[in-house]
Amino acid sequence: MPTPAELKAQILRLTREYSALMHRANRPGTEEAVAFLPGQTTVPYAGRVFNEDEVEAAVGATLDFWLTLGPEGAAFEAELAGFLGVKHSLLVNSGSSANLVAVTALTTHKLPATRRLQPGDEVITVAAGFPTTVAPILQCGLVPVFIDNDPATGNVLGAQLETAFAAGRTKAVMLAHALGNPFDLGTVLEFCRRHDLWLIEDNCDALGCIYSMPAARARALGFKENSPGLPADGTHITRYTGTWGDLSTQSFYPPHHLTMGEGGAVNVVHRPPLKTYAESFRDWGRDCWCASGKDDTCGKRFQWQLGELPAGYDHKYIYSHLGYNLKPLDPQAAIGRQQLKKLPAFIAARKRNWETLRAGLADLEEFFDFSLPTHATAWRAGSGFVWDGTGCRTDCSWFGFMLRVKASAPFTRTQLARHLDEKKIGNRMFFGGNLLRQPAFVQLKRDRPQAFRVVGEFPGADEIMHHALFLGTYPGLTPAMLRYEIETIRAFVQSQ
Ligand SMILES: Cc1ncc(COP(=O)(O)O)c(C=O)c1O
Repeated sequence: MPTPAELKAQILRLTREYSALMHRANRPGTEEAVAFLPGQTTVPYAGRVFNEDEVEAAVGATLDFWLTLGPEGAAFEAELAGFLGVKHSLLVNSGSSANLVAVTALTTHKLPATRRLQPGDEVITVAAGFPTTVAPILQCGLVPVFIDNDPATGNVLGAQLETAFAAGRTKAVMLAHALGNPFDLGTVLEFCRRHDLWLIEDNCDALGCIYSMPAARARALGFKENSPGLPADGTHITRYTGTWGDLSTQSFYPPHHLTMGEGGAVNVVHRPPLKTYAESFRDWGRDCWCASGKDDTCGKRFQWQLGELPAGYDHKYIYSHLGYNLKPLDPQAAIGRQQLKKLPAFIAARKRNWETLRAGLADLEEFFDFSLPTHATAWRAGSGFVWDGTGCRTDCSWFGFMLRVKASAPFTRTQLARHLDEKKIGNRMFFGGNLLRQPAFVQLKRDRPQAFRVVGEFPGADEIMHHALFLGTYPGLTPAMLRYEIETIRAFVQSQ
């Protein structure tokens, strides 16, 4: 009779064998494990890249049957925080939940009144992007204030921040790093420091992106150290995005830099109490911070007197907030741990794929405006990017390869998107485009015109909405797929 451990080992061995046969199409693009048939095989814009390690981890954790967030979750939280060099990472069940938890954490009554986000307070954000960067602001009774995007980067136009500021009302800035392109952290952080504002970085599309700033400027903003493992040159502070703000968020949905199926994380960058608030909102609003399966971490389970509850009321059932339950499962975290080990290779592949597409389409500048990393002013074949005079640099872990079809081109963005679709090349628009044009916001304006505020017009966000699309850069793309994408676009342009 085999022991449980022997049986488990046997199951896991067979699981690996099965996965190696079944999931060949999901292996890194460098392996070219499955024949690519141009025009017949779909070239996805994104997808899960994994091998038998992830499948073994999922099955192993499922056999252990802890199920709810437990040992794998705790390990993944520590490893993710360690990779980024932040105080804590808290796992949640999606990037949207991460954004909700991050904003809601700042509404806690445990913060000083001047910093606490209270109904009617304003949060500055950008018009074009993903809807759930903005939705939590409204869901918390706060007022999003929209400024424009720079169409070249997809990111916030930093020059508009001061115009959007309203003394006594503005409390926070919440922005996404667009498609793996860091926003201008120097400008945004200086604005936040000037007015004592929170910064939440939506890092859902940007895990592994790097931003570096001249050391004196970074020190003035309170940053002295590089992120772990990033080379120091003595003149710059170099850190991952998601480690410059107060809180940041990740998505681990399959198109993202790593996946656990559904999942996300809230990173607490440097103020430890924010972890307790975020955790409370994630976990039903409870005051207790016991891990799953623990009963008395504080050692005072029956000694608290909070609210109007009787003294000694069980701390496990004391609620200091109106919370949610947004936790993922332990087997998901087991998958995430394996993915994290592959993250450096994934990041390198995303950069390589972006560069291949950029070089392959370089002579089509008459028809396309190609995205630029923030702080770059141009891209030159052979020599790469030309940088602005700020001394700040970005190193993008690209979520996608964005281009805009010029108004002068003899075809439209949508015609190109349709053609790519016919040729089985995955492509996407820049999420919701100008969110203010979306039915949800048009309706909100009718129902509650005071629910949000806009600053000026939105030529940048509208330009993105009308003219931009992006191709994938995900690590599953093979050289043959990238060649096919380039040839298809070139042939389309020539046929016009
Ligand atoms: C910038 C940004 N924020 C948040 C999200 C939401 O993540 P999730 O799909 O995990 O809810 C996405 C989704 O792609 C995103 O692109």
